[in-house]
Amino acid sequence: MMRNPRIFDPFIIHVDAALRTLASPSQRFGVRKSPAEGIPESAMSLTEKQHVAGLMRVNHAGEVCAQALYQGQALTARLNTVKEQMAHAAAEEIDHLAWCEARLSELNSHPSLFNPLWYAGSFFLGALAGLVGDQWSLGFVAETERQVTAHLTHHLARLPPHDEKTKAILLRMKMDETAHADLAVTAGARALPVLIKNLMYGISKLLTTSSYVL
Ligand SMILES: [Fe+2]
Ligand SMILES: [Fe+2]
Repeated sequence: MMRNPRIFDPFIIHVDAALRTLASPSQRFGVRKSPAEGIPESAMSLTEKQHVAGLMRVNHAGEVCAQALYQGQALTARLNTVKEQMAHAAAEEIDHLAWCEARLSELNSHPSLFNPLWYAGSFFLGALAGLVGDQWSLGFVAETERQVTAHLTHHLARLPPHDEKTKAILLRMKMDETAHADLAVTAGARALPVLIKNLMYGISKLLTTSSYVL
């Protein structure tokens, strides 16, 4: 009996996307070059470098979640009217992933060991939100992007003031994440119940604490 190999295509596509996100290549190519390019490296003490690496590991883990969220959403949500814009936002998240990876490597550090766990959780939540309905799916994106923006603001305040390279990356990412949240709202995102928002905040607290260290 002939089997239709195409039924496995979506599965293979998503496994491929997960592996591409989690297995950091020696150099990842985004659409835009890093905002840190051309800015000279500042003299930092070992403690400052480790602190910045911890912050960038958190931001990188957040970007891994963003990849998984958009992948999960693409699996179940229809989003007929905003498919292209959402794909554009997802492409910008690849830039963020590449910039964070490059900065981590410049600081002689590494991505978080917990990233596979965060990827799986975010993929599941993204797919679940898409199943509930497009407006909820967009609401989940909007709330995630808002919480990421808040993290970036907090991280900008905690950077060594002379680390202009990291600052340039975080400022650009913050602008993009705000635009992603606005896009989701314009596309019809529903406001999530406070309980869900608090749950998301609790999970992000776990992510930030663990990724800063490991
Ligand atoms: Fe991002
Ligand atoms: Fe984003």
